[in-house]
Amino acid sequence: MNARKKIALVTGGIGGIGTEICRHLAQQGRLVIATHLPAEENSALAWQESQKQAGYDIELAAVDVTSFKSCAAMAQNIVDRFGHVSILVNCAGITRDIPLRKMEESEWSSVLTTNLDSVFNVTRQVINDMITDGFGRIVNISSVNAQKGQFGQTNYSAAKAGMHGFTKALAQEVAKKGVTVNTVSPGYIATNMMNAIPEEILNKIISTIPVGRLGKPDEIARAVEFLCEDGSGFITGSDLLINGGLYMR
Ligand code: CAA
Repeated sequence: MNARKKIALVTGGIGGIGTEICRHLAQQGRLVIATHLPAEENSALAWQESQKQAGYDIELAAVDVTSFKSCAAMAQNIVDRFGHVSILVNCAGITRDIPLRKMEESEWSSVLTTNLDSVFNVTRQVINDMITDGFGRIVNISSVNAQKGQFGQTNYSAAKAGMHGFTKALAQEVAKKGVTVNTVSPGYIATNMMNAIPEEILNKIISTIPVGRLGKPDEIARAVEFLCEDGSGFITGSDLLINGGLYMR
């Protein structure tokens, strides 16, 4: 039998955690599309080539996830080129860490639009096709700092906490349609995002992680892969904490 591959769209797919998610979904037999910023086309093409060298065929889609219009154009382009998106992983995100008393309006709004508005902007484009097809898997990548808060992250913690509210509301709306919506909340994972944290502070944070180290992107991606399996249809509205014990619930 030569069933058509289901299409998986991963926003922020060329980032540290995103790359590992793309690889896991490709291994799962999905046709994977990673998004990148339009201005990052050259680095995205280099990334695609390095994935190919490693044995992964991953498609690219240029989009600004902060723009509803850009997301609509990307989604139409994907439908024209490949078909309906069945799996969506909202992984695009940024940090602009600074205490609130010093935070500029732009540092608030860029984090809220990139990390939270993006979830609406992209999910809204694909949700009706998932409902029509009677199958969908949506995974929103939140953060341990949505749950516990973090000094210097009022913007990021608010946006990431908002993602899980979105997850639980949408999960109820589409539960009877074969579409699941879940959140994965990573702790501190060894990616470039950690480079923005001063070394002394990062070491202090690591000393509070019960497992005693940063997580690996693979340790997040394997959970995303699991939630995206065809057989994971009874898991919806959940929030999977993967943080080395930093926050327990
Ligand atoms: N808790 C309590 N107090 C803290 C603190 C903390 N975590 N961090 C700093 N402070 C204190 C300092 O000791 C200092 O106190 P004094 O003035 O008494 O000496 C004061 O706050 C420093 O305040 P500043 O206004 O000078 O802070 P700053 O402008 O230097 O900014 C910061 C500090 C950039 C926010 C820095 O603390 C930082 O980078 N913190 C880490 C933030 C973080 O964990 N980000 C996660 C990024 S990764 C990610 O987000 C992925 C994910 O999902 C987990």
